[in-house]
Amino acid sequence: MTERWNPSSWRSKPVQQVPAFPDAAALNAVEAQLAGFPPLVFAGEARKLKRALGKVANGDAFLLQGGDCAESFAEHSADNIRDFFRLFLQMAVVLTFAGSSPVVKVGRVAGQFAKPRSSPNEKIGDVELPSYRGDVVNGIEFTSAARIPDPERQIMAYRQSAATLNLIRAFANGGYANLENAHRWMLGFVKDSPQSEQYREISDRITEALDFMRAIGLDPEAHPEMRTTDFYTSHEALLLGYEQAMTRVDSTTGDWYATSGHMIWIGDRTRQLDHAHVEYFRGIKNPIGLKCGPSLAPDELLKLIDVLNPENEPGRLTLIARFGAEKALEHLPGLVRAVKREGRSVVWSCDPMHGNTVKAASGYKTRPFDLILSEVKTFFGVHQAEGTYAGGIHLEMTGKNVTECTGGARAVLDSELQDRYHTHCDPRLNAEQALEMAFLVAELLKKERLAKGRPAVEAAE
Ligand code: PEP
Ligand code: CO
Repeated sequence: MTERWNPSSWRSKPVQQVPAFPDAAALNAVEAQLAGFPPLVFAGEARKLKRALGKVANGDAFLLQGGDCAESFAEHSADNIRDFFRLFLQMAVVLTFAGSSPVVKVGRVAGQFAKPRSSPNEKIGDVELPSYRGDVVNGIEFTSAARIPDPERQIMAYRQSAATLNLIRAFANGGYANLENAHRWMLGFVKDSPQSEQYREISDRITEALDFMRAIGLDPEAHPEMRTTDFYTSHEALLLGYEQAMTRVDSTTGDWYATSGHMIWIGDRTRQLDHAHVEYFRGIKNPIGLKCGPSLAPDELLKLIDVLNPENEPGRLTLIARFGAEKALEHLPGLVRAVKREGRSVVWSCDPMHGNTVKAASGYKTRPFDLILSEVKTFFGVHQAEGTYAGGIHLEMTGKNVTECTGGARAVLDSELQDRYHTHCDPRLNAEQALEMAFLVAELLKKERLAKGRPAVEAAE
């Protein structure tokens, strides 16, 4: 790993999960075209996110990351983006209040198109075809034509990302992100929820806090920080040819940045130390994530941290734990202890989705709400026991009222999954389930904050 890095040095390493494109000339032409396109994000924005995540690493902020498992060309609409953004803001208000600290908002959006698959092929009846790998690679239709990797899709994914990001920037800066709006939407959710009693305490206290602010003359018209917000984009940087084409030198610092999104992460299937993805990621200066699943041993994690965050920079590396409710207690403490023992600064975030996918009796791939919550509770419990900070949550969710995950306050049943099962890949929490999860995480955050405060008070006495 001491060899020189450049945006294409990953090409000499073994690579997983990147498909072979049958038409090499067409692929080269597309990559050359992308390399000439404007960046989607700027290096300065990525640095700002890294500073915000540095605060999370130090226990002074909380990371909320979430969005689609796979964005799709079919689901690209203003309504979808608006509903997602609106949900995200409501969740952030609840978490900000509960943690009494800033929430760093990072969407799985505007670039989350490429999917790793556990099997290269998919079989239906007697027909076997290459697996769907996300709209940036091939089509979801079960025909041999659709499943051929098509480079032109990268141009479409770039353009969709640009349009999505454009609308999100307008929402974040143009007044839509007004704190009072988010509060009002959240109240609507609480009023309608079958669990409204459980959420009332936090929601009433947020209302009181806002009434108080208004009474002393703090209103959104006069204070831009109450009407605008920092919202960042992220995705799994799986398709390295696309990522290389979007990798640019920052003119201010001379450093290389991925400009396809503010934060990018390495998936659980592509984190081999001597392979292409780790090679690409070590050279770019963005904040990055690393998915940590059950097969990751503590010494291997430390080696990966050596390569990915050699300067031990707070905010550079987010470790996204995704073990499954049953396995988290077996695997997480060892990793947390190793990282703490070696004095490595990381953000610990919990992805309670990817280890909790089950096949329902109906045949649908689903995730039971209680299993998701159970992994989140274990995550907070482990950090409390180890004296470390549970810094964030990583969810697959949509602002739409889909039926993909079972359970939640309105108890989506296995038999209802067929009603609105729209995901192109993994099952997502619907808007109510996601906001409910935010309230439940808020309770855990509040406890974490109280537990953190207690020793300081004792020490002062
Ligand atoms: C994902 O985040 O959609 C994903 C595939 O996750 P993982 O790499 O953790 O399986
Ligand atoms: Co997923």
